[in-house]
Amino acid sequence: MLLHTTNSHTINSHALSSVAYEFASDVRDGLSRPGQKELPSKYLYDDVGSALFEVISRLPEYGLTRADERLLQRHAPEIVDRLDAPVAVAELGSGSGKKTRWILEAIARRQRTSYYPVEISRSALLMCQRELSDIDSISIVGFEREYLDGLQEVAAHRQCSQRLLVLFLGSTIGNFDRPAGIKFLAEVRRILEPRDSLLLGTDLEKPSAQLLKAYDDELGVTAAFNLNLLARINRELDADFDLGQFAHSARINRQARSVEMHLESKRRQTVRIPAADLRLEFAEGETIWTESSHKYSAEEVFQMASAAGFCCQAQWIDEQWPFAENLLIAE
Ligand SMILES: C[S@@+](CC[C@H](N)C(=O)[O-])C[C@H]1O[C@@H](n2cnc3c(N)ncnc32)[C@H](O)[C@@H]1O
Repeated sequence: MLLHTTNSHTINSHALSSVAYEFASDVRDGLSRPGQKELPSKYLYDDVGSALFEVISRLPEYGLTRADERLLQRHAPEIVDRLDAPVAVAELGSGSGKKTRWILEAIARRQRTSYYPVEISRSALLMCQRELSDIDSISIVGFEREYLDGLQEVAAHRQCSQRLLVLFLGSTIGNFDRPAGIKFLAEVRRILEPRDSLLLGTDLEKPSAQLLKAYDDELGVTAAFNLNLLARINRELDADFDLGQFAHSARINRQARSVEMHLESKRRQTVRIPAADLRLEFAEGETIWTESSHKYSAEEVFQMASAAGFCCQAQWIDEQWPFAENLLIAE
């Protein structure tokens, strides 16, 4: 379905009802399974969640986005020089696209190009189009899709002489556990052709205290971002979560080398979610696991790349906040 068209910007969108059905079904699966209750982190990003994430990315405790942007600002010309021309750009989970400007402007200095943000959040996609619409020589076509579905569509429309640069910034790869992350990169590789490239942002390991602050800030914005998932279930699935009876919690998982976000029940309680056909019992202290952010060593990115069919050709590391930008070339 074509949702919105302006002169040079387009968003391709799926029918809403199938999205609502899938949400109800994923909520039922995640909350009714025995043991740890869990919700997929992609549902954190509705309109409110996407706006809150933008605020998180500006918080003093969350140095990740600023490190990513410093690297892109400093090295975009070199990154682009390493790519075969002409190149079109696809971005997986673009968010507001603010950092992407550095790459697009560097490409625009040498050629006209197309930019294809792929996002499940419509409001993020609209933010991204507004943010980048002033760049000359770039046409923007947004896909309101899951990562791989969107990338398949982009690849199907590529011109035969064109290389593809895929951006996966902000260490969003860290939302997958390690085996799933490599499997995801391999799936991206299967959609690409040899000499296409993937610019991958990876947050590096750092002290636990610094990580816990980044995922549990003083102002409570990350807590609101996490709790909004329950508010979303209330809004869209007619549930009766009492938000005051759940608390945001950030935890280090040393074995997985990740930070986890949970929502912890403050007391014994019952919650009804009619549109998912669910009645849930929570014990005091029981949690819903809502997101993981895995952290990497700089060296392991080279191994992940080769296990997925890429070669990590270059890596740039920020000096203030351990974060690596990695240029992977499809072999
Ligand atoms: C952690 S944010 C990163 C945003 C941006 N790339 C950055 O670096 O600041 C992840 C983004 O991916 C989007 N997203 C999450 N899961 C997705 C999925 N399965 N398919 C497409 N987009 C997804 C979210 O809506 C969100 O905007």
